[in-house]
Amino acid sequence: MTVRAPTAALIDKFRARDALVAVIGLGYVGLPLVVRMAEAGFRTLGVDIDAEKVAKLDAGQTYLKTVPAAKVAGARAKGFTATTDFARLRAADAIVICVPTPLDAARQPDLSFVIGTVESLLPHLRAGQLVSLESTTYPGTTEEELRPRIESRGLRIGEDVFLVFSPEREDPGNERYTTRTIPKICGGSTPACLAAGLALYGAAIDTVVPVSSTRVAEMAKLLENIHRAVNIGLVNEMKIVADRMGIDIHEVIRAAATKPFGFVPYYPGPGLGGHCIPIDPFYLTWKARQYGVDTRFIELAGEVNAAMPEWVVTKLVDALSQRAKMLRGSRVLVLGIAYKKNIDDMRESPAVEIMELLRARGAELSYSDPHVPKFPKMRAHAFDLESVPVTAAMLASQDCVILVTDHDVFDYGLIAAHAPLIVDTRDRYPTGGSNIVKA
Ligand SMILES: NC(=O)c1ccc[n+]([C@@H]2O[C@H](COP(=O)([O-])OP(=O)(O)OC[C@H]3O[C@@H](n4cnc5c(N)ncnc54)[C@H](O)[C@@H]3O)[C@@H](O)[C@H]2O)c1
Repeated sequence: MTVRAPTAALIDKFRARDALVAVIGLGYVGLPLVVRMAEAGFRTLGVDIDAEKVAKLDAGQTYLKTVPAAKVAGARAKGFTATTDFARLRAADAIVICVPTPLDAARQPDLSFVIGTVESLLPHLRAGQLVSLESTTYPGTTEEELRPRIESRGLRIGEDVFLVFSPEREDPGNERYTTRTIPKICGGSTPACLAAGLALYGAAIDTVVPVSSTRVAEMAKLLENIHRAVNIGLVNEMKIVADRMGIDIHEVIRAAATKPFGFVPYYPGPGLGGHCIPIDPFYLTWKARQYGVDTRFIELAGEVNAAMPEWVVTKLVDALSQRAKMLRGSRVLVLGIAYKKNIDDMRESPAVEIMELLRARGAELSYSDPHVPKFPKMRAHAFDLESVPVTAAMLASQDCVILVTDHDVFDYGLIAAHAPLIVDTRDRYPTGGSNIVKA
């Protein structure tokens, strides 16, 4: 009788989709992933510490606009269940970790969710399983934090348990790409680990890109996000320069973008938002310091981008004063408070910082965002506000309307026709107008 190597057996299971794939952390990343795994034909299990989410999923409901209830129901019809019970992970062939990786109060990496997850998983790990970390993190996390913990259970990496890092590239609201069609990078702790990872992801994702190590995979994800953060910082700085010179930065970008090679357009805005771009670069900054390297581009871009809400508010104050008004006591309507258009995600939204600045200076605030009907509970911010409908009368009653997030559902013609003053941070009004100030 020939005994098959554990990797070969696992690879066969993944290729045949005859495997149980478990995803831990059913948020913006984990939920679409587990649904995709179910669609691809795997048996699936979702694990989360949030009992409310688990109950919703088990009732066939959703809590994410990006994953409609029909998708959850479709996955359930294929056997998907959710649980808070880590003991059920023992039955899994693949365990994919998609938990948060925020910054702590000192803006340093907070790996407590990842480590907490691994500690909860350890008692249930067994030989013959693949563990994949997808949470964005600094190079070295998989080898320094996951590997020794798994080995402490007496399990050998690359022989008993297969360990990979495969970063997520979710883009909420983007209808052009799906979990299946976004190419996925995968790096393994050993060649056998990589082979197992490629077999799993290859069975569900159209293109899987192998790299030589988990550290390369970890850093590739950070490079992607740092690339965005730095280029947005650059264009935000250019916006300030152009504004002083009386030049429209958006017209400049449109002109430059006609160059068919060597130029990639990035657009200025009211500040960075979301869970990735404002946070991830600082994972690298922190780790680079351990190697005696200062990541100056990252710090500088962070500084420029962080100054944007203040800059936008200054433009608003100037625009009011040109109309012989002061901000204190003025009625200001904030249009769009989600961090980017057409979604309901408020994480790190620059609108919140802008609202804080406006409130501190005495503005009478209201907001409208069809995706965020009530200002949500946030750790550091509280506004007792609900979204107001945008009507001609509402617009006309304002001293200023500030367009922060340019959702497609807004009626831009109506807004331009009735708002006495619009501060446009998104170039929704490219040709301008007597009541429009670009910021
Ligand atoms: N949102 C994005 O667009 C995006 C894109 C690429 C990468 N990422 C990365 O993916 C990771 C997850 O992000 P997200 O946006 O899905 O976060 P999220 O907050 O939407 O979801 C995380 C989920 O993990 C659960 N959780 C937390 N601790 C847990 C634990 N110990 N055990 C089990 N479940 C736990 C939470 O209850 C939550 O449901 C992060 O590292 C993030 O940087 C996010």
